[in-house]
Amino acid sequence: MHQITNSDLLTFMVSKQEPALAVNNPATGELLGYAPILQHQQIEAAVERAHQAQQAWAKLPAKSRSQLLNKWYHLLLDNQDDLARLMTLEQGKPLAEAKGEVLYGASFVEWFAEEGKRTYGESIPAPSGDKRIVTIKQPVGVASAITPWNFPIAMITRKAAPALAAGCSFIVKPAELTPLSAFAVAELAYQAGIPRDVLQVVLGEDAAQVGAIFTSHPLIRKLSFTGSTRVGRILMEQSAHDIKRTSMELGGNAPFIVFDDADIDAAVQGAIASKFRNAGQTCVCANRFYVHSSVYDEFIEKFAAQVEQLNVGNGLEEGVNVGPVISQTARDNILALVERALEQGAEVATKRIEHDGLFVAPVVLKNVCHDMEIVSQEIFGPVAPVIAFDSDEQLIEMANDTIYGLASYFYSQNIARVWNVAEALEYGMVGINEGIISTEVAPFGGVKQSGIGREGAKQGIDEYMNIKYLCFGGL
Ligand code: SIN
Repeated sequence: MHQITNSDLLTFMVSKQEPALAVNNPATGELLGYAPILQHQQIEAAVERAHQAQQAWAKLPAKSRSQLLNKWYHLLLDNQDDLARLMTLEQGKPLAEAKGEVLYGASFVEWFAEEGKRTYGESIPAPSGDKRIVTIKQPVGVASAITPWNFPIAMITRKAAPALAAGCSFIVKPAELTPLSAFAVAELAYQAGIPRDVLQVVLGEDAAQVGAIFTSHPLIRKLSFTGSTRVGRILMEQSAHDIKRTSMELGGNAPFIVFDDADIDAAVQGAIASKFRNAGQTCVCANRFYVHSSVYDEFIEKFAAQVEQLNVGNGLEEGVNVGPVISQTARDNILALVERALEQGAEVATKRIEHDGLFVAPVVLKNVCHDMEIVSQEIFGPVAPVIAFDSDEQLIEMANDTIYGLASYFYSQNIARVWNVAEALEYGMVGINEGIISTEVAPFGGVKQSGIGREGAKQGIDEYMNIKYLCFGGL
């Protein structure tokens, strides 16, 4: 087995003899280790401990919680190399990207350490002289989360940090494919002084079992989920019975639009950054490209030339830009979408290279039509279908023709068009002359079937707080 880290981040790892989940490296298939699995009653006991611990945690002054979060933030930075290596080993993304994710993940902890001190209420002018009205914000209680494999650290800290800053306790089920990073990040929180019952990582016998507990346990007041729209819908249905609060960050089908007045070289750079981050496995990755017919050939030529320069391989190797995809099922789905697009008339604009294992060669597809299956499905892989368009009206109609509404991108130098298109796109986030939009300071989230709620930014902490209105009468 590989030497994973040099530090004591992996003390949670268990042996095969105990109830355990095997974790493998998607680049090599090699076994990395075992993460502990809890039985149903043990997860319920964890929820009860989270409830007990939350009472004292919420009573701490916001400043004290902020100081603990700050210590956690610095420990994440101090351990960034080990965390990044661990992430590349279990998730596959290139080491430089994994380091980027550790910093991105840490940035939420730093941000919410500050925001926790600013959960202000309001004083509202009362309708009569004998009354005074104020609002206060209070933590929801025990917050739960289910997080995905594509960002094994950042999707946890983006939820845990606001929850803890608000005064909630937090219990998370990480993805079964990438649990080691989750446990390692929690270990650093404990080293920072955050109590073990305030922040817990749990894995159950299967994901559905944990989802059922999180959505039905009376002590859990909130569920935050990042993952597919299909699973989000199930979790929302389950949460409906107890009217549990939910935040949902779900699927996307991001259009990436290049107008005839765009800086084509900048658009190509943005397209590479947006499409091939994490081998195309992000909810905000450009999923379909719309390029004005007058610049279509130029864009395809320049884009394909850049895509052919991308190095596919084990993320630990120097110079690799695109790691493996997460599983055989993921690879089969991506390749099947490409094959069906080719049968329907699309053409490959890049040199065709075959890869073994879980590696998928980056592909640009040209002569794609808006009604092809590959345009309506979330590809979640390094494939870029490019469609030609002629008018802004036609473009807006095609861009909005989806059940999803997470991220969108467009390139234009015309200020009037920039405003018109930005307002017309039915998406929670719009990158304008920019292919990477994720940052802790901006509200991340979608509309339509891409989700509910916002993460990061000043709004992110409100997802973990209730507003209480106090009416003082008889004055
Ligand atoms: C996601 O893919 O769900 C998150 C991507 C990001 O935060 O940039």
